[in-house]
Amino acid sequence: MRLTQTQIDDFHREGWLFLPEVFTPEEVALLKREAEGIYAEHRPEVWREKNGAPRIAFAAHTYNEAFRCLGSHPRLVEPVEQIFGEKLYMHQFKINAKSAFTGDVWQWHQDYGTWKRDDGMPEPRAMNISVFLDEVMPINGALMLVPRSQNAGDLEAGHDRETTSYPLWTLDNDTVSKLVEQGGIVAPTGKAGGVLLFHGNLVHGSAGNITPYPRKIVYLTLNAVSNHIRKPTRPEFIAHTDFAPIEPVPDNALTELARGSFRQAAE
Ligand code: SIN
Ligand code: MN
Repeated sequence: MRLTQTQIDDFHREGWLFLPEVFTPEEVALLKREAEGIYAEHRPEVWREKNGAPRIAFAAHTYNEAFRCLGSHPRLVEPVEQIFGEKLYMHQFKINAKSAFTGDVWQWHQDYGTWKRDDGMPEPRAMNISVFLDEVMPINGALMLVPRSQNAGDLEAGHDRETTSYPLWTLDNDTVSKLVEQGGIVAPTGKAGGVLLFHGNLVHGSAGNITPYPRKIVYLTLNAVSNHIRKPTRPEFIAHTDFAPIEPVPDNALTELARGSFRQAAE
């Protein structure tokens, strides 16, 4: 899937781009079912909130067939390749739950802050491209972005190990306020199947979810191969060290898998 020049220009100016209805309801239903199965497992890749609800399932593309297809899907890989102009590898893969009633906050941060400090990534030539697995609404913990904040570069951050179950390099309130004065805040919302990509230095965060509506989002962090990490300190399932370029699967791979597993279930 190729982006238009207008979409590329929008991305470079605003630091983010939302593409509605990229994956079909059939593809999303398969991914959603598989995500729920993974959250029910007790394995080291599944991190929980302080209250025990699932928060993140890491690296599902390495142990689940549907997410293996999603991790190499041309509708995700090609737009990022187009922006960086080179082949990509998977730096990180996560399915964030933001569970109904219990999903916890993600404090204001820039992703590149963590990739640089914890993983030794040379440049912000990686980015998140995400797929909504549930409808993202203004009320269920939508991701909030500060448009154009990618231009502030890599900001000073503090390592917050207390607020949630997941350590994060976070920004202070003054820094966020100044950037918001200039760029405002947007919270892209939309049906399951929508795709959101954003620059590695774009400031973002999300509030807790106290609604009955879960908000699952899958994030592929795709890194330009030449920008591979130099000093990994985190477990392999959080920051991968397989720098082999991703070869996209056929565009219908997920649909075929959904139909195959449906046939299997019916037999
Ligand atoms: C993240 O910033 O890595 C995740 C935020 C979210 O899923 O709300
Ligand atoms: Mn982030």
